[in-house]
Amino acid sequence: MKGKVLITAALPYANGPIHLGHLAGAYLPADCYARFCRLVGSRTLFICGSDEYGTAIVHGAELAGRTPKEHVDIYHQTNLELFQKLGIQFDFYSRTTSKYHAPIVQEFFLQLLKNGFIETKETMQLYSESEKRFLADRFVVGTCPKCGFVEARGDECTKCGASYESTDLKNPKSKLTGSPLTLKETMHWFLKCDLFKEKLTDWLKGLDWKPNVKNFIEPYIQDLRARAITRDMTWGVPIPLPNSTGKVLYVWFDAPVGYISATKELFENQGDPDGWKDFWFDKHTKYVQFIGKDNIVFHAVIFPAMIMGQDLPYKLVDELPANEFLNLEGKKFSKSSGWYIDLADFLTRYPAEVIRYTLAANAPETQDAEFTFKDFQMRVNTELVGKFGNFIHRTLSFVWDRMDRTIPECHEFSELDNTFLANLQTIVMEAKHSYEHFRLRKAAGCIMELSALANVYFDHKKPWALLKDKTKTEELETTIYCCIMAIKALALISFPIMPLSAEKIWKMLGHESILETSNWDTVMKDELCSGKLITEPHTLFEKIEDAAIAIEIAKLQASQTISAASTIKPEITFDDFEKVDIRVGQILSAEAVPKSSKLLKLEIDFGFEKRTIVSGIAKHYVPEALINKKVMAILNFKPVKLMGIESRGMVLSASNGTILELPSLETAPLGSEIG
Ligand code: MF3
Ligand code: ZN
Repeated sequence: MKGKVLITAALPYANGPIHLGHLAGAYLPADCYARFCRLVGSRTLFICGSDEYGTAIVHGAELAGRTPKEHVDIYHQTNLELFQKLGIQFDFYSRTTSKYHAPIVQEFFLQLLKNGFIETKETMQLYSESEKRFLADRFVVGTCPKCGFVEARGDECTKCGASYESTDLKNPKSKLTGSPLTLKETMHWFLKCDLFKEKLTDWLKGLDWKPNVKNFIEPYIQDLRARAITRDMTWGVPIPLPNSTGKVLYVWFDAPVGYISATKELFENQGDPDGWKDFWFDKHTKYVQFIGKDNIVFHAVIFPAMIMGQDLPYKLVDELPANEFLNLEGKKFSKSSGWYIDLADFLTRYPAEVIRYTLAANAPETQDAEFTFKDFQMRVNTELVGKFGNFIHRTLSFVWDRMDRTIPECHEFSELDNTFLANLQTIVMEAKHSYEHFRLRKAAGCIMELSALANVYFDHKKPWALLKDKTKTEELETTIYCCIMAIKALALISFPIMPLSAEKIWKMLGHESILETSNWDTVMKDELCSGKLITEPHTLFEKIEDAAIAIEIAKLQASQTISAASTIKPEITFDDFEKVDIRVGQILSAEAVPKSSKLLKLEIDFGFEKRTIVSGIAKHYVPEALINKKVMAILNFKPVKLMGIESRGMVLSASNGTILELPSLETAPLGSEIG
């Protein structure tokens, strides 16, 4: 496989740190493929960058109390660093706020317009008079048109599951300010996707993509309609037309063009401003896009349509190895509900290489896959340490300790040697084929298959026994020669997944050059240099103890409880707060409420009066421990009946859903106001 390869990986939103799911779905497969392509001698360009526009970013920034620019600056940097630590070796990582980006996006828009593929339409949208802006679905709450639930989301009801247009909500309100919304007319630009139906269908016919991708988009193309490509907001690429203030291009219109603008930026930086055309305008370029399955439509339909509507001969994607999802311990990764692994933190305890290997071995290629800590531990202990590392270490320490640190001569091969070497060749070919066809799982499997085979060979030949028999020196040397052939092959086939370990192995074999700049076929063809000195062998991987895994699992569970409580409620004013009457009281008596496991009935003295308050703290406090304790309670709640007892107020407590504690007060007199 020679030639030119352009590789892109979906631009991650600069709205939070990337997680293992993103890594397994797009970035790791893309990086392994890029490393493989370079190794087989293809002229390779691997491009990515941060996706920095869109309502999700505006929303994320607002929640964090930052401007969108501040927000994306933070996460662009965070993700750039994470990618570096993970060994994801982009040729260039740009961002869609780069000055190179908007002009190309605008050119895309203008050409589509000129060629008759864009139309305008008036639509009704929810508008906030007080904020003076149209609100996207995610900023809207209201009453569900179906079940009447009053806190339904802009696009679906979390209570009854109905999905609808936000304009169908009753009493629509701004999620952030609570202000009422009205319907207002607004004009938008639409891409007439339906006009590309035939072209897209013909183009797809010639492509041999995975069934999960093809089956997904075929019906979609049949049902193509015009899609709005502008939004009522100010954070985004400006529409290059007059009368468009307050509107920008939709993030999914601008982001994929980022693949092109980033390439252009890279070549500009290198002082070769036309160099990008070598990749984008040459039909001999092989263009591979790595994405997760949630991005299929935009990469296989919309972006290709946008390209088909241009006058310039941009490359269409040739291969779209879209992956399924990776779940974490049986559930979807979710930052907001705390079900995720903080990668930066995880990387302080585990090397990137073992994470890369585990994800490759579990790659979600044909179905959703799972990351579990137990599996991670098994991959490291049984596979990397037990098979791969073990074989390399036992062979190289043997050479170091018993064979003068020198790669031996090879003599006549026995039948067993020949079989071993033939199997080795087959596995190396299989690994190559797997990398070529985006099958990381299989490639990782080849590494283990060869390691296992080599261990069996070593055990069978018993070099330690051959060493004792002076008549068997040639057999010993040939055996070790074959083992070193296997180590060389292991370094080669593991390089795309574990580049650092592969380089270490390469170095231990006595090479002064690096594997990265070598060539796959040459490495396999070259004879071993008998007589060459190896360098001192070191172990490649450390075992992971059960206790360490238990800590990881506990961490995950803890982050879930914390995050459940971590969404800050909408802003209120001091006046709002002033309405709440909170006072200091002292518990006079406490008793369990019959037939309730949660409630305690408390008599509390507030100095100016005594009240009965029923409180849901029975699981956390025994009644006796509460006598004389000073607490804070809200006194101006409307009285309620709980299990037949009238409760006149609410005792304040601190809780994360698991732990609950009554805040303590010492000297404050009874009846004092909290404020
Ligand atoms: N930011 C998007 C996501 O994370 C992917 C954008 S891919 C691009 O889902 F092609 F639009 F860049
Ligand atoms: Zn509902």
